[in-house]
Amino acid sequence: MLYLDHASTSWPKPDCVHEAILRYLRDVGASPGRSAHRLSLEAERIRFDAREAVAELVGMKDPMRVVFTCNATTAINLVLRGLLTPGCHAITTGMEHNAVLRPLRTLEAKGIAVSIAGCRADGSMDAAAIEQHIRPETKLIVANHASNVCGTVLPVREIGELARRHGITFLVDAAQTVGAWPIDLHHDNIDLLAFTGHKALLGPTGTGGLAIDDDFAVTSLPALISGGTGSRSEEEIQPDMLPDKYEAGTPNIMGLAGLAASVRYLIEYGVDEIIEHERLLTRRLIDGLGDIAGVRVVGPGDAQRQTAVVSFTVDGLACSEIARALDENHEIMCRPGLHCAPRAHRTLGTYPDGTVRFAPGPFTQEEEIDLAIEAVSSIARRGIDG
Ligand code: ALA
Repeated sequence: MLYLDHASTSWPKPDCVHEAILRYLRDVGASPGRSAHRLSLEAERIRFDAREAVAELVGMKDPMRVVFTCNATTAINLVLRGLLTPGCHAITTGMEHNAVLRPLRTLEAKGIAVSIAGCRADGSMDAAAIEQHIRPETKLIVANHASNVCGTVLPVREIGELARRHGITFLVDAAQTVGAWPIDLHHDNIDLLAFTGHKALLGPTGTGGLAIDDDFAVTSLPALISGGTGSRSEEEIQPDMLPDKYEAGTPNIMGLAGLAASVRYLIEYGVDEIIEHERLLTRRLIDGLGDIAGVRVVGPGDAQRQTAVVSFTVDGLACSEIARALDENHEIMCRPGLHCAPRAHRTLGTYPDGTVRFAPGPFTQEEEIDLAIEAVSSIARRGIDG
């Protein structure tokens, strides 16, 4: 079986992830930050280890500014719903996932103005495309780091620089990049970074969070969810300190145990090594698919400018049918359709039919890429049963 759906979620996970989850369940079991007994302290140590590992990966000095949520979507909602109030304005891009667009559309109905900066037909854009939408009441710029549809990487450092210059908060949806592309909160001028644990970080589902830059004042961002934190229990008001402010309720400590292990694994393995390997696979996929008659590769078509996500269409065939044939006849797992990102597909000219998406991972082999290309070639030549 060939799994090419890493942009949905990475699989398989490294063995150390299974072991860390099992160890937590079998030997620890307790809730962190609540009781003071040894098992609770060990659970807190596990959670802190996950914070430290994520902070190290994104170039942060203070791990307490890494806040865990159950996924990137929750982190994005936390920021959008907390920061944007009626009368203010937000700018986003034409390559966003519904994780950004749906909360923005909900807020629009409550009196928040939203502008969408256009992107080129390969999904790319310059920061200037955002700058022209800035108004006096612009409070937030939110952009994805890389497209989940076709891997296009946006110029976050330049967008962040422009946001800094205008005194606007900058939120990056890094669901597709943390662990798969270089990212440094401070150097990339990012105020708030929403990340997920289960994609390139190789951790379990149900993990993710928000990395908050040192200079961002959290007093301006209310909690999305209030409740018990294990701290300041004498108060009925949500504590303002980090990370407690945004972490009410018992956390997914089993997931965080897996995440701590996976991020440590990545740091040791080397994100640069993974990027190099995935570039090789991406180049091979772009070239191989591009050579097949009737196949159109969507996006930059340049492994230097995109993550390991390659989307394509085949003339005359429906994406869902291609994906079904790849699964049933070739044992290749991929994701067809609109990938929860209809706006990005409009930009790429692939709405409403969508694309077939191949997303290899760090352990995918070059020969496996060749098998996937052969399978698409056969389908393009002989039809769905090819
Ligand atoms: N957003 C994820 C994907 O692209 C789930 O598949």
